[in-house]
Amino acid sequence: MISADCVVAGCRQLLTCGGPVPKRKEALRELGVIENGWIASERGRIVFAGTEREFRANVRPAGDAVRIDAGGMVACPGFVDSHTHLPFAGNREREFGLRLQGWTYQELAAKGLGIQTTVRATRAASRDELRALCLRRLDEMLLTGTTTVEAKSGYGLNVEDEIKQLEVLRDLGPLHPVEIVPTFMGAHEIPPEYRDRRDEYIKVLIQTLIPEIRRRALADFFDVFCEPGAFSLEETAALIRAARDAGFKVKIHADEFVTLGGAELAASFGAVSAEHLINISEEGILKLAAAQTAAILLPGVPFFLMMDKRAPARGLIDAGAAVALATDFNPGSSHLSSMLFVLQLGVYTLRMGVEEAVNACTANAAYAIDRHHEMGTLEPGKKMDLLLLDISDYVSLVYRLGTNPVRLVLKNGKAVVKDGRRVDAAR
Ligand code: NIG
Ligand code: FE
Repeated sequence: MISADCVVAGCRQLLTCGGPVPKRKEALRELGVIENGWIASERGRIVFAGTEREFRANVRPAGDAVRIDAGGMVACPGFVDSHTHLPFAGNREREFGLRLQGWTYQELAAKGLGIQTTVRATRAASRDELRALCLRRLDEMLLTGTTTVEAKSGYGLNVEDEIKQLEVLRDLGPLHPVEIVPTFMGAHEIPPEYRDRRDEYIKVLIQTLIPEIRRRALADFFDVFCEPGAFSLEETAALIRAARDAGFKVKIHADEFVTLGGAELAASFGAVSAEHLINISEEGILKLAAAQTAAILLPGVPFFLMMDKRAPARGLIDAGAAVALATDFNPGSSHLSSMLFVLQLGVYTLRMGVEEAVNACTANAAYAIDRHHEMGTLEPGKKMDLLLLDISDYVSLVYRLGTNPVRLVLKNGKAVVKDGRRVDAAR
């Protein structure tokens, strides 16, 4: 018999999202639904997922095991948000007003606003302030079902403030149940003090920041904004080579506003992910489809920036790319933290199927941060990161808008949201 210290019984639908990851093409439509599903974990790891009958035949819960009656709710894996700029200070409300008057995101950036506004605010913030801001945001994310979040630095753009952002992320670990996967993004933009000597900043990145962040083991990933005004294709190539040689895994902000070939570079380099892709070329689609590199789509960006153009999700999926969805939570181009809303945008604005969007927020999202061996699906061996949703069919994740169906969240087998409210895992 399998022993268990946590059991969730009677899920109307248990969406395991199981099977080989990444999910491509038709496989992206498979949710591995178990009707009247039961699931159990031991010390935070799933040990069983199946029917009630299989459960009774195979699992013996410990006497003091936690038993949760799903009461006919729908269960799915906790959402994995594979692209955020979590640790920033300040806001860009005033610039949002300017955008409503017709300024574009790039025009604001060219005027020294945009990312630079947030760099000024983040440099000025203390660690305590930054930590408090992140904790509030993590609570919001958790309440809408996010159990793991990738988080990028990139608003410090100097040694001291990049390290400050990454150390804040590290310090959040014991303070909050949402798991954080840190990314060093010192190559987010050229800082103002290096405006006229960009080569020098790139030298600082390669010779000082990359080795120093690595030495302190403050980030798993390196990311670069490959875009006119930020870093060229050639600069991006030099940066990711240096980062890889130092031991980082690589992500690229690719083809967001302009078709530069960032997707092709990511694929040929073997980057873990290429992100944004609103303006990916046909060639880029084919290259990503044939590569291990995940395609992270961020439908909050064209929505928030009120752009007509969208990433070609259908083209990417049909070609065979490993598509994931994420929030891109940041103060300028996508000020939204809810994966549930992103899942809905995937269906409403990218024409993804509901099943495709769910897998893109779970199994493939875990793949996009190289954590698919331990999360993203509800299968034995994975972490017990699970949501109970107060809906009668998973289609209502998308069919019902503007409410939050997340009632219960388990992180590593511990309840951290109950009745839709944050609870302390210790209680
Ligand atoms: O992913 N593209 C670059 N970085 C962010 C925006 C950051 C900001 O505007 O503060 C993005 O869209
Ligand atoms: Fe981003």
